[in-house]
Amino acid sequence: MSQVASNGSSGSPVRIAGTGSYLPEKILTNEDLEKLVETSDEWITSRTGIKQRRVAAEGELTSHMAAKAGEKALEQAGIDGADVELIIVSTITPDTLTPATACYVQQHIGALKSVAFDVSAACSGFLYALEIARHSIGSGAFNNALIIGAEKLSAFVNWTDRNTCVLFGDGAGAAVLTRSENGDGRILSSRLGTDGAQAELLNIPGGGSACPITPENADQNLASLAMQGREVFKHAVNAMKRAAEDAIESAGLTAADIKLVIPHQANIRIIDAIVDRLEVPSENVFINVDKYGNTSAAAVAIALDEAHRQGRIEKGDKVLLVAFGAGLTWASAVVEW
Ligand code: COA
Repeated sequence: MSQVASNGSSGSPVRIAGTGSYLPEKILTNEDLEKLVETSDEWITSRTGIKQRRVAAEGELTSHMAAKAGEKALEQAGIDGADVELIIVSTITPDTLTPATACYVQQHIGALKSVAFDVSAACSGFLYALEIARHSIGSGAFNNALIIGAEKLSAFVNWTDRNTCVLFGDGAGAAVLTRSENGDGRILSSRLGTDGAQAELLNIPGGGSACPITPENADQNLASLAMQGREVFKHAVNAMKRAAEDAIESAGLTAADIKLVIPHQANIRIIDAIVDRLEVPSENVFINVDKYGNTSAAAVAIALDEAHRQGRIEKGDKVLLVAFGAGLTWASAVVEW
């Protein structure tokens, strides 16, 4: 198990200058799922807090959703697509295995001078991208970065497996990072962690070079999410609590200083357990898992954008972002707005 700490050693301070998100129009409710698998609205709601999720339209790709979220973040930051220098897309559902989804996004938004690549850290990926971008700007190598979490999980869900198909949704969220000047807000601290020994708990076993999809195995749904739910649940609570506490401490703060907690939106029971342990008032926690389900790398990014646009984050507020996902991976950051 490894844990990488980082707090302010990235050179110049870096801030979030804009956020954006995009959700596909199509809504799939728990009642819709009752028609697909043996499940019920009552089971899904009580075990997960999810009431509905979004599903991308036919032909709507991860890169399309990513670009739409990115354009909104750029508009809010007042930066033209052509002036973007770095694009990092975090996704486990790329348009293609290669090239990176970020390359397609570069074309969609006309960021033709940018460097663009993907990060694969599952649900923690947006915060991994945040940390990479922070150091890239803080070191002086880039002046700005567009970071995006985007997923089309509907393409990697086994729609006959009730253990997983009720949990996930599609969508994208984005943020623009720039150098912090004149007393603007800044990213105060960040923590990343990985435990590859637990890789089997949550994965997509097929479709990679370890297990290509062949005519012989094509009927086994190997290119779909597979999960040991209870084990993942336990690890998620412990890792997110630790990551949150570490980021708060690295920022020189206590939980009482945090105006808003934006946790990964996987399951309301995981969120409740963390909030309980951190002793944060529940009104200071942002929740939208009921509307979108688990959108993996997009979840924290979408929640951050919604919280920001709803006026729940004001200048000077300290916001805690914390996530957990396949890998296993976990990540946290404290941002002063
Ligand atoms: N509808 C109805 N019943 C379902 C069901 C569904 N959609 N999915 C599973 N069940 C059944 C199981 O088959 C099992 O039945 P059995 O006892 O007859 O075998 C029963 O419900 C209990 O299953 P269990 O897995 O013990 O339930 P749980 O309380 O652990 O809840 C999860 C399941 C997946 C909701 C929960 O483990 C969880 O949230 N884990 C974390 C998942 C996650 O967030 N992953 C992403 C992390 S980034």
